[in-house]
Parts: sequence; C-alpha cells; structure tokens
Amino acid sequence: MGIRIAVLASGRGSNLLAIMQAIGEGAIDGEIAVVLSDKENAMALEHARKAGIPAYHVNPKAFADKSDYEAKLLEYITQADCQLICLAGYMRILGAYFVGNAPCPIMNIHPALLPSFPGLHGQRQALEYGVKVAGCTVHFVDEGMDSGAIILQKMVPVLDDDTEDTLSARILVQEHKAYPEAIQLFAQGRLELDGRIVKVKGE
Ligand code: GAR
Repeated sequence: MGIRIAVLASGRGSNLLAIMQAIGEGAIDGEIAVVLSDKENAMALEHARKAGIPAYHVNPKAFADKSDYEAKLLEYITQADCQLICLAGYMRILGAYFVGNAPCPIMNIHPALLPSFPGLHGQRQALEYGVKVAGCTVHFVDEGMDSGAIILQKMVPVLDDDTEDTLSARILVQEHKAYPEAIQLFAQGRLELDGRIVKVKGE
C-alpha cells in the first residue's frame, strides 16, 4: 500500500519508469495513482498506460487561462487521493494557483546541482560554465523556479571531452537513483522541514 503518488511529465518518462521500477521492487512504499501530461504524445503517458496506471493528457490550450488548466490537474490529483505530487520532466513552470492549492507536497527533479543552473538545459549550462562537478537535485517545489527546499543531491564528474549528451546521460543514471530514494524517504515520513532546510530523520 503506502502513499499514493501523482506524476506530472512532459516527455520521455525515464524518471517515471525508474519510480515504477522502484515501486515494483518494493523500494518505495507506495503506488502511482495517476500520471498527467501537458503533451498528448508524451512517452510517459504510454509507459503508464502499459502498466495499467490511469494516465491523462490535459491540454493547456483547452483552458481559458493557466489557473483553469491547473485546476483541472488538481481535480485529477484530488480524485486520485494522492499524498505526493512528483514532477518528472514536467517542462512547465507551475503557477501560484497550483502550488497554493495542491492538496499535498510537490517534488521535482532537476538535472543540476541547485541553486546553480536552474531553468532549462541545466546540463548544458553546467558544461558551458565549466564546472568540474555536476549532478541532480530532488527538491520540494515552491512558487519560484527550482528554488524550493533541497531533499537530496547526487554528483557526477564533468569530463574534458563531455558533450551535453554524455553529461546528461551520466546525470540521468543518478536521477534514476535519487528520485526513488527521495520519494521513499517521504513515504517513510522521514523528511523534516525546518524553514528551507530538509532534515532526514533516522540518519
Ligand atoms: C530529466 O533530465 C529531468 O531532470 C529534466 O528533464 C528530464 C526528463 O527526462 N527536468 C528538467 O529539466 C526540469 N526543469 P525523463 O522524461 O526521461 O524523466
């Protein structure tokens, strides 16, 4: 049993698959109750449907404004009785409406060591800046862009001959470990928030 999770995704869905796999292996005490996407052709929707998970395309263009669109997302999430919302390659900035009205905490995974390189193309930004260490961050979502409290981070080296693709692939391996780990800490009730500092109980 465990927690019920809503996943929002826009594309490939490899993080969704990693979460599904972790659940299958018993590494997350929970289940994915619903998958939502702003993109009709998102592979993430296909992955979910293949596994029998309810999955819906919610088209932002079909709504008068962003709040209406986000209200529809929240309707699905509330109906599915979720205790956690996970953004997994959801490529839109959540509005104040969604963040303010969400019935449960929201997590995101970002392909950079925040607070460095927020926004789009975190891996490319890191490469172009010339950092020697890169990685990924799982954080709670607030109203800012990639600015919420950090839950956990994983590092990878940046190599001299890296391209955006090779660095992204190295980071992705760590993303697939980091997200299930963070979700399981939440599911176990081990994340304690003190201001913007996240403490892991029982470490
Ligand atoms: C992942 O690298 C994720 O960190 C990134 O998009 C990719 C989605 O891949 N997210 C962001 O950049 C959010 N700003 P996936 O669809 O295979 O999980």
